[in-house]
Amino acid sequence: MTDSILNTETVALDEEKCALVIIDQTKLPYSTELLTITDLKELWDAIYLLKVRGAPAIGVAAAIGIYVYTCSLNVSRYEDFAEAVEKACDYLNSSRPTAVNLSWALNRMRKVVTDHRGEDVTALKALLHDEALRVKEEDTAMCRSIGEYGLSLIKDGFGLLTHCNAGQLATSKYGTATAPMYLAHEKGYHIRVYCDETRPLLQGARLTAYELSSAGLDVTLLCDNMAGSLMQQGLIDAVFVGCDRVARNGDAANKIGTSVVATLAHYHHIPFYVCAPSSTIDLHTATGADIRIEQRPPEEVTEMWYQRRMAPQNIKVYNPAFDVTDHSLITAIITEKGICYPPYQFGEETL
Ligand code: MRU
Repeated sequence: MTDSILNTETVALDEEKCALVIIDQTKLPYSTELLTITDLKELWDAIYLLKVRGAPAIGVAAAIGIYVYTCSLNVSRYEDFAEAVEKACDYLNSSRPTAVNLSWALNRMRKVVTDHRGEDVTALKALLHDEALRVKEEDTAMCRSIGEYGLSLIKDGFGLLTHCNAGQLATSKYGTATAPMYLAHEKGYHIRVYCDETRPLLQGARLTAYELSSAGLDVTLLCDNMAGSLMQQGLIDAVFVGCDRVARNGDAANKIGTSVVATLAHYHHIPFYVCAPSSTIDLHTATGADIRIEQRPPEEVTEMWYQRRMAPQNIKVYNPAFDVTDHSLITAIITEKGICYPPYQFGEETL
């Protein structure tokens, strides 16, 4: 696995330069280019343009980004420092609306400042540094634990389907939906993983198929409209997906098309598992109807990936980045704490 993409950190802090370092995921799988970011606007753009993407990775990048921002913040009064951090958090939070990990991580950074009201700015910077790295370490631990619980649902010889990229590239390490796959592979299970290509941005083809195959797993890529055919043939034993926000009742927003896969799985009596670190469970959201779904530019559908535009000029385009899978279609939600079965009712005690 020496040249695997998994050997490069998705999101990291360069301590010496006080910079955020990310893999530019828009360049994958052709080249592994690292971006060194010190500027808040550059980070906002990187999140919006999906250079760093996937709910947990966005949260980790934002937390490190806030610390990096304060490195060059030249103020000495607590009030000025707190106001600047607050504004920076609001700004980054506006980059993408659906993944709750973004506001979750930013709120942790805000809380460091408000919990240490009146303290010296140098001390606050050190506390923000530690909190950002904690957000990252905790993400790795949550993914590992999701992997272990998920592994208990997999048998040797299983065919697994996944949608989008809920892999290492979407997290600090292991991924969420991919974590059980990596552990099954490590254990010597012969599993077959099927990756939906995931139109329009092709996270499944460019990222999941890439990271899993570079780790030596048996991977087959398919177009999004082919999953039903695999299920009819009995080739899929379980579906594992990630999520961007889970409501209190278990409704789960994830990459557009996830609800189609869930509906198909339900029809074919195939277990459909949502892998959700607690950073993705939003107790402030009662049901999926309350989740704001990001709308993306039409060109992602009509032009991107094509040498020439492939749709009529001025055609209306529907391009939501996510959809909500109804809790009734979800066999179980796997968190770092365990496997939750219906009826779902998330509360403080479950996190
Ligand atoms: O638009 P993206 O690529 O950020 O969407 C990513 C997904 O939908 C993932 O499945 C989700 O964020 C979970 S990542 C562990």
